[in-house]
Amino acid sequence: MRWRALLAVCGSLAFAGAASRADEPYRELYRPQLHFTPATQWMNDPNGMVYLDGEYHLFYQYHPFSNRWGPMHWGHALSRDLVHWQQLPIALYPDPHGAIFSGSAVFDRDNTSGLGTATRPPLVAVFAYHNHELERRGATEVESQGLAYSLDQGRSWSKYRGNPVLKNPGIRDFRDPKVFWYAPTRRWIMTLAAKDQVSFYSSRDLKDWRHESDFGRGWGAHGGVWECPDLIDMKVVDESTHRFVLLSSVNPGAPNGGSGTQYFVGQFDGHRFRPEGDAQRAATEARWLDYGSDDYAGVTWSGVPASDGRTLMLGWMSNWNYAQDVPTERWRSAMTLPRELSLHRDARGLALRSAPVAELKKLRVRSVAIPARTVDAPAELIDTALRGATLLELEVTLDLHEATNASLAFRNAQGEQAVLRVNRALQRYEFDRSASGETGFNAAFAGLQTAPMIGNSNLVRLHVFIDHSSVEIFINDGETVLTALVFPHLPYESMVLSADAGIEVTAGLVHELKSIWQAQ
Ligand code: FRU
Repeated sequence: MRWRALLAVCGSLAFAGAASRADEPYRELYRPQLHFTPATQWMNDPNGMVYLDGEYHLFYQYHPFSNRWGPMHWGHALSRDLVHWQQLPIALYPDPHGAIFSGSAVFDRDNTSGLGTATRPPLVAVFAYHNHELERRGATEVESQGLAYSLDQGRSWSKYRGNPVLKNPGIRDFRDPKVFWYAPTRRWIMTLAAKDQVSFYSSRDLKDWRHESDFGRGWGAHGGVWECPDLIDMKVVDESTHRFVLLSSVNPGAPNGGSGTQYFVGQFDGHRFRPEGDAQRAATEARWLDYGSDDYAGVTWSGVPASDGRTLMLGWMSNWNYAQDVPTERWRSAMTLPRELSLHRDARGLALRSAPVAELKKLRVRSVAIPARTVDAPAELIDTALRGATLLELEVTLDLHEATNASLAFRNAQGEQAVLRVNRALQRYEFDRSASGETGFNAAFAGLQTAPMIGNSNLVRLHVFIDHSSVEIFINDGETVLTALVFPHLPYESMVLSADAGIEVTAGLVHELKSIWQAQ
């Protein structure tokens, strides 16, 4: 069923045969094979992520008429496993109130909104309107919040007649509502980006919203506007306590330039978010979800059943610094791999970790062990049994011993390479894509990306996913994440480990993965 729908979109039997046929949909040069991309045209933020009856909905900022940003629609895709996606028709179109910017969706089980019935409760999307006409006229009040609802499992959507439900209070950047049900006060809570802060609103019915409080002054990074916030109730791993985690994307102002997502850990009482730690420290040491340049505007899925209990998210795998210039034509932009977030007490206090979702294991077609060994000269980690594999997952633990520098180069047959370095002298990880393939499309693309090392153990555990135009690196169980785009002219097929003194590979596996667009 899913496969047939996909073929309808692609219009051809594109995936038969092993050779890459660069002119065919989903087989083009750079087309991600492990990540969601729209068949054609421009995409940015994930929106309206909601789970209902076995289906994960993914809406996204979409411009159907161009491979560059323009008047935004909500594109729509659906998955039963977070891995394979079926494309659905565009869900939301611009209307006289404006284009449809980012937002969220909830299942209104008790029909608090009255937009469905008790027996047919609605899915409700809460999104930002952006009025380009008012913008052209120089108005401040260009953004407001609106509702749309679906009574047929998200297959078709109607706009609420009383839109907008939240008018602009005189703040130019006022958008990206993320809504959740807060049981103690029996109210919906909306977390909204307002300039370089977030505002919290509450409502009993999703229609009538009351301002509760603001958060952000003196906290975190303020290099640009805050966007796409999310307030998440999370259990602390191995403790019986829980905390609220506030995600807030900021652009520009990320640690490696341009767009990035910071977070705060604290308490929420239905009215106010109170972060832990002191503001002085928070302002100088913002916490980042991902240090790579290409993970932005990520928020979590709502409605994930308690029996599952995971905090699931994905982000837009690009950066506003160069997103519109990346060298793809038919489509532009992908989402990151879906990730599970968890909250741990470690050397940093309470901190988030990200892990690729377990469902991705089903893409493994072959797994080859990396024998334990000491590496004192450059060593290839890809066994000859995996020759020709271009979709790769690596799990390896390194003991650095006396080495101060170690590197892992992901390389193709043309010698193009993206390099992860562990630089112990500077206590940081470095990701270097200056020779990774096509880089000249934007001057901001090739710069070195760095992430601070946490603690000073000799052990580095790496979990890496290599797709045709991205590298995602999860270090030490997702304590540190680096997500980065790359545009090699041929896919990487080799991983070369080097160090300035003998290091030890203590355990390792390389998996060959299959394309998510291949028949299951
Ligand atoms: C973030 C963002 C959002 C906005 C959307 C517009 O990438 O700027 O704040 O709603 O993109 O496409």
